[in-house]
Amino acid sequence: MITKGIILAGGSGTRLYPATLAISKQLLPVYDKPMIYYPLTILMLAGIRDVLIISTPHDLPQFETLLRDGSQWGINLSYAVQEHPEGLPQAYTIAREFLNGEPSAMILGDNIIYGARLSAPLLQACEKPKGATIFTYQTREPERFGIINLDKKQVPVSIEEKPKNPKSNNAITGLYFFDERASDIAADLKPSARGETEITDMIRFYMEEKTLGVAQLGRGYFWLDAGLHDSMLESSKFVAMIERHQRFKVGCPEEVAWRQEWITDDELLKIAHGPLVKSGYGQYLEEIINDFIHSGKRNRV
Ligand code: G1P
Repeated sequence: MITKGIILAGGSGTRLYPATLAISKQLLPVYDKPMIYYPLTILMLAGIRDVLIISTPHDLPQFETLLRDGSQWGINLSYAVQEHPEGLPQAYTIAREFLNGEPSAMILGDNIIYGARLSAPLLQACEKPKGATIFTYQTREPERFGIINLDKKQVPVSIEEKPKNPKSNNAITGLYFFDERASDIAADLKPSARGETEITDMIRFYMEEKTLGVAQLGRGYFWLDAGLHDSMLESSKFVAMIERHQRFKVGCPEEVAWRQEWITDDELLKIAHGPLVKSGYGQYLEEIINDFIHSGKRNRV
């Protein structure tokens, strides 16, 4: 059972310059909240309460200011520095002590995932006893992502990082569930031609071992890597539209914590009446409590 999570929020964000010259990409807003709230709530929806946040020496203190120790949301946040980015698998070597021989989920700090009943496939991935689970999504831009090819029986047969001639449109999203061997596998990887170790090589290890689960986020789900100017804007527009039309917020850690019963009604009300009140965010938190009082239902799908 996976109970630990990692958010990798490092990198220099060069693909968003000059927006990220002075501030980390994952602290920039996606509509009404910092980008990192979205991946954090995905881990929380998976029932994960113990999370390590990895970032650059320059940016890590700002993440700590924003997210603190997590106790305000009934979770436990810790922090670790990535001195020099040497590829996504490096997160697992940095996290070795935090993981302490346990399996984990990792999500990239710029990945936004949305969809009804998302907890179910996340919990299933957490419960897988051996191997790994990845989540895929159909993309129109396969050259930008890790791509996995499945045979007719839906068995994964090959993986490529940012292929020039993609064999499919199955993008590997930045959400990974690996068993307790992840740190050892990461430590053994050789850098690719671009001088970094590749997450796709870690996934290939499990694929070759035939312990890789592939969960497809199909129609009805939204996935975006908000790491480019346009995809960031699109994410903001998407969240704005959903929040306006469905009334419920996306990526709201206070709400997820409360629905999971990790914080009490009183704790949520205290947050609602604090500094969040003027932006309307606090008012929203009060509204969901009032809904609950009237309907008796804490969980909305
Ligand atoms: C990384 C991974 C890639 C994955 C993508 C998802 O790419 O290397 O396999 O598809 O995240 O967001 P990056 O965005 O770091 O270039």
